[in-house]
Amino acid sequence: MELLYDNLAINEAGHLTVGGVDAVYLAEKYGTPLYVLDEDKIRQNCRLYTKNMAEQFGEGSLPLFAGKSLCFKGLYRVIEEEGMCADVVSPGELYTALAAGFPPERLFFHGNNKTDEDIRYGVDSGVGYFVADNYNELDILNAYAGEKGIRQKVLLRVTPGIDSHTLEAINTGKVDCQFGSPIETGQAARFVKKALAKENLDIQGYHFHIGSQIFDIEPFCRAVNILLNFALEIRSELGFTARIFNLGGGFGVRYADSDPQIDIPANIRALAEHLKEACTKCQYPLPRIYMEPGRSIVGNAGLTLYTVGGVKPIEGYRSYVTVDGGMTDNPRYALYKAKYTVLPAGLMNDAADFTCTIAGRCCESGDLIQEHVTLPEPHRSDILAVLTTGAYNFSMSSNYNRLCRPAIVMVSGGQNRPAVRRQTFEDLVACDL
Ligand SMILES: Cc1ncc(COP(=O)(O)O)c(C=O)c1O
Repeated sequence: MELLYDNLAINEAGHLTVGGVDAVYLAEKYGTPLYVLDEDKIRQNCRLYTKNMAEQFGEGSLPLFAGKSLCFKGLYRVIEEEGMCADVVSPGELYTALAAGFPPERLFFHGNNKTDEDIRYGVDSGVGYFVADNYNELDILNAYAGEKGIRQKVLLRVTPGIDSHTLEAINTGKVDCQFGSPIETGQAARFVKKALAKENLDIQGYHFHIGSQIFDIEPFCRAVNILLNFALEIRSELGFTARIFNLGGGFGVRYADSDPQIDIPANIRALAEHLKEACTKCQYPLPRIYMEPGRSIVGNAGLTLYTVGGVKPIEGYRSYVTVDGGMTDNPRYALYKAKYTVLPAGLMNDAADFTCTIAGRCCESGDLIQEHVTLPEPHRSDILAVLTTGAYNFSMSSNYNRLCRPAIVMVSGGQNRPAVRRQTFEDLVACDL
C-alpha cells in the first residue's frame, strides 16, 4: 500500500507505524484521542528550508517557524536546535516560546490587532522584530521602544493584492482582507512613510503572506514582482531601501493521495532564481529573504489516533463511524471541509470495502472528520489514524462540550515520549471561580 509519507509504514502485525513506532501500541500506552508527532520528520522538514534558503537566497536568509500551526514548549527546543527563528502571533505564543527558553531576539511578533499590553510585553521581552500590520500600532510601539531606550526592528506587512487560489479562509493576500496594508490602494505607501518617520523604529523591510497550502511558486513570483515594484517606488519617493523581504507562509502538504507531491528544494531554487533575476533587472540590491513555514514543518509529521465507538448505518443514506474525538481536536473539516486520509491503524492489510463518514462525539451535526472514507468495516475499540494532523489541529483545538484536549506524544529514533499531557477534568474547571 502507498502511504502518504515516507515515515509511515506497516509492520508484521499489520499495524501502521510512524517513525518506526507502532501506532496501536501508542494508542494503548497513552490512550486516545492522541496526537503523535514524528520529531525526526520535523527536523528533516526544518532542514529542507534552512539549508536551501541559505544556499539559494544567500547567507542570513532563513525560515521562521509559524507557531500558529503548532505551539508547545518542547517544539521550540527542536526549532531552536535546527537554527530557525520563529514567529508568534499572540502574547500567549510569545509566552510559550519564552517559557521554552527560545531566544527572544529570534522571535518575530505578528498580529493584526496587537493590544497596547501585547506591544509592551513584546518590547519588554526583547523580541527581535515586530511585524507591524498597520499604522494603528506604530505610535504606541514607537513610544514603548523610546521608553525602553531602544530602536525596535520592524517589518511592515503589506498586501500585494493577489489571489493565491487556495481555500477562501486561508487566502490572505487579497486587497480586501483584514491583514496588512494594501499596496494597490496607496495605503501601504502611506504606512511606510509614517513608519519611517518614527525615531525609535528601525524599519528593515516588508512582509507579505499570500495564503496557505500553496504547491507552486507562481503566486509567490507574482507577489514578489508586486513587492519589488513597490519597494522601487518607495526607494525613489522616500529614499528607503528595504533590506528584508519576508514572503510569509511555506508550501503545502499532502493530506490525500490526490494532493500533488512537492519538491521544496526545487521550489526554493526556482523562487530564488526569479527574485535574483528581477532584482538584477531593476537594480535593486538582493534583500535577505525570510519565509514563515508552519504546515510544511509540522503538518506531515503528525497524525491523530482515535478509538472507534461504534458504527451507525442510517438505512438508505450512509454509515457513520463515531470516534472519541472530533471537531474539538480537529476543527478543520467542520470549518472548511479540509481533506484528510483516514487509515485503520490496526488492520492495515485488510481489504477496505466499507464506505463511511467519520463523526466526532460533539453535539453538532457538523462534527465530522471526513466523509466518503473507505476502510475495512470498523468495530468498537478499533484504532483509526487520521494523517497529516501536525499543523492547525492541536493549535485550533478547543474544550467544546467540555472535552479534554488530547495529549501529544513525540516519536524519535524508534522511541516515544510524552510532550504535552492530556487535559484532566480538573484542568477544565481550573479557571472557574
Ligand atoms: C502571516 C502568516 N505567516 C505564516 C503562516 C503559516 O503558513 P503555513 O502554515 O501555510 O506555512 C500563516 C498562516 O496562516 C500566516 O498567516
